[in-house]
Amino acid sequence: MPLEIVRNDITKMTVDAIVNAANESLLGGGGVDGAIHHAAGAGLLAECKTLGGCKTGKAKITGGYNLPAKYVIHTVGPVYEDGKHGEKDLLESCYRESLALAKKRNCETVAFPLISSGVYGYPKDQALKVAIDVISTFLLENDMTVYIVIFDKAAYKISEKLFSDIAEYIDDNYVDEHTDYRRESTRMNVPMQAIMADEICECKALFTEDDLDSKLKQIDESFSQMLLRKIDEKGMTDAECYKKANIDRKLFSKIRSDVHYKPSKPTAIAFAISLELSLDETEDMLKKAGFALSHSNKFDIIIEYFISKGNYNIFEINEALFAFDQSLLGA
Ligand code: APR
Repeated sequence: MPLEIVRNDITKMTVDAIVNAANESLLGGGGVDGAIHHAAGAGLLAECKTLGGCKTGKAKITGGYNLPAKYVIHTVGPVYEDGKHGEKDLLESCYRESLALAKKRNCETVAFPLISSGVYGYPKDQALKVAIDVISTFLLENDMTVYIVIFDKAAYKISEKLFSDIAEYIDDNYVDEHTDYRRESTRMNVPMQAIMADEICECKALFTEDDLDSKLKQIDESFSQMLLRKIDEKGMTDAECYKKANIDRKLFSKIRSDVHYKPSKPTAIAFAISLELSLDETEDMLKKAGFALSHSNKFDIIIEYFISKGNYNIFEINEALFAFDQSLLGA
């Protein structure tokens, strides 16, 4: 995945470069700055002393020393006052300048903390949004894997209303694995065998005469064929689709070139979100990859919640998944 959101300690990340949320002196401090200097050892500070500081919004690069990362890119985020003093522009510049430096050093993997979201007081959800927006734009033109490292859960704030809405939706829909198919068959008034054989969509689907043959054709098409058909129908380019799904180009070309390719469930769901498919279309696409949205899986129910609300904002979906301790889309 070109952009992954992970929970980790950035000093433990084995990547080409980690980014440090430093101050203008570049002589260390607390927070992630302190953790990086502590893990890197005295050599890092010695090199930093030769750099003559760094301006807010700018970035400078050093060796990684005792860190698993090869380089440390030091950038200085803005101190947040009220959002009306150019803080957003400066924070965007931190990500852009750091990515440019990483690209210049031919880094293939880079890990960012949430710059300015600690001591410098930038609201974490806005800081995350800035990070995702700038990095995603960069990745449209560049091949690199970028990690946003969330150190503490507070970084993923979610509104109380949204949280309780989703919790209620989970309660209404969550069933344990041992659902009594007998109860299901009476509830849905279809033969129990159909439930067991998971043929509900054929029993329940009511095709009008004139679209029956196109529907029958669609039942036979593979995941890959449906994906490419949907990209065309939505008027998207391949790149727009897989970038929005946060899927890397290599994986997409595998799916495109192998008509029988079976993706993982999170990959299939990421494409459904990228294409903004309805719930039925999502179920259909998942079925072609051999999966179904399961009501005994909170991740699936949260995805179903957002699709049923027509909300395909991967950022908000990830906030919710994170708040319910689920793995993230694109992670
Ligand atoms: N790994 C990943 N992220 C971390 C780690 C870690 N080991 N430690 C802290 N963080 C996170 C914090 O939770 C926060 O979300 O990094 C983010 C940035 O917080 P700070 O480190 O406080 O950085 P910032 O808000 O940019 O303030 C910079 O703090 O440490 C001083 O010298 C630094 O003066 C500078 C100021």
